[in-house]
Amino acid sequence: MSKFDYNKLIDNEAALQSRSIFWEPEIYQEELKQIFNRCWLFLGHDSQLPEAGDFLRTYMGEDDVIVVRGEDGEVRAFLNACSHRGNKVCHAEWGKTKAFTCSYHGWAYDNMGELAAVPLEESIYDNLDRSKLGLVPVARVQNYKGMIFGTFAEEGPDLVEYLGDMAYYLDVVLDASPEGMELIGTPYRVEIPGNWKLPVENAIGDGYHVAWAHAGAMRVVGTIGQGRSESVLGIGKDNTGFDDSGQLQIAIPPHTILSTLDGQSGYALYDNPGPCIEHLERVRPSVVERLGEVRGKQLLGSETHMGVFPNLQIIQGLNLLRVIHPKGPGAFEVATYSMADKNTPDEVKDIIVKHVGQTFGSAGILEGDDGDFTEAITHSPNGYATRQMKGWLGMAKGRTMDWDGPGEASPGIVNELCQREFYAQWQRTMLAESASDILPQAPIQKESVNG
Ligand code: FES
Ligand SMILES: [Fe+2]
Repeated sequence: MSKFDYNKLIDNEAALQSRSIFWEPEIYQEELKQIFNRCWLFLGHDSQLPEAGDFLRTYMGEDDVIVVRGEDGEVRAFLNACSHRGNKVCHAEWGKTKAFTCSYHGWAYDNMGELAAVPLEESIYDNLDRSKLGLVPVARVQNYKGMIFGTFAEEGPDLVEYLGDMAYYLDVVLDASPEGMELIGTPYRVEIPGNWKLPVENAIGDGYHVAWAHAGAMRVVGTIGQGRSESVLGIGKDNTGFDDSGQLQIAIPPHTILSTLDGQSGYALYDNPGPCIEHLERVRPSVVERLGEVRGKQLLGSETHMGVFPNLQIIQGLNLLRVIHPKGPGAFEVATYSMADKNTPDEVKDIIVKHVGQTFGSAGILEGDDGDFTEAITHSPNGYATRQMKGWLGMAKGRTMDWDGPGEASPGIVNELCQREFYAQWQRTMLAESASDILPQAPIQKESVNG
């Protein structure tokens, strides 16, 4: 029984969030248990593990996890902790191996997680039962069109059920061609002193900050200087006005979408968007045929931010995928990967990789801006008086629109629907008694139409 009243910490009706959810150490410990120990979490992509023995390391909450394709071709995930005393058995971020050998006393595990060798075994142990001493597996690992997810929960929804109608939108990235998507190159990893929820909701839903917070950055990257991005993002030059027609945010609880729906603004900040847009228009007819007009015409190429609860963001157009790993209540690590359809020409892939580095890489000009805000919001409540304040996300509350795809839509990317839905899902998950209860019944946008 928690000592915190999560019904009060998030007030969905008034769209208010208590500041304590960003700094309170005990709430953070409950998040590790309620959210990161039960939700489906992104682990990696098939393209990172093409052959037997290929592995990578990632995190599920603060648990260090090895994801590896075994000799039998199956992808499994294990805690990166030796069964003997708990030392890490793998220090490399990725690679290929037949065995993970602990550096402390030398126990070695094969790439299917079995304890394969123990130094001096015959001399020092009587009948050591190696079959009981393998690496601890992540309870369930499942794959959706190349995306590998895992959960520590034995029961609860399968991955496909957890993704639900979000799969319709994910397919714009994952299923635009028979070959599918791939992650390209090495991920960027940056640690920032802010609470993990802030970069998540900033990326999935905060269209309001873009032209203001990144105004300086936008004058030096891409084409906004030539006046293209102002119109495609719907925000007037110098923040003078906003046109929400032809844009939207969508709640597909527990997940969210933000999209410009114009079919090309994902490339508005590129220095050299020409080859990308040419490729986009070349493949568009086949994508329309494969996925229909909504996804092939309106979503493909648009600036589309897909938020998979709790910590995965897939940003189509900018062509990046990022995962936010918590590192205590006041810090997080963001891992950012470039992505593209496998059919994309190398010239276009090179442009994408360069652009991701320029914007959201370790020295990315946009990543740095956002890091400042998350740090300030996280740490200003160190002061007792500031701690009494609440955050407010009341914009466009109750404003709905017709939309041909799944989910409840609201007009405009300058809108706080996705962020409200994120905190509503955070609250549901913190309150849920079992992993079977974490999926919501309806978006809060539908439950509440005032404001
Ligand atoms: S802790 Fe790994 S072999 Fe002892
Ligand atoms: Fe930003």
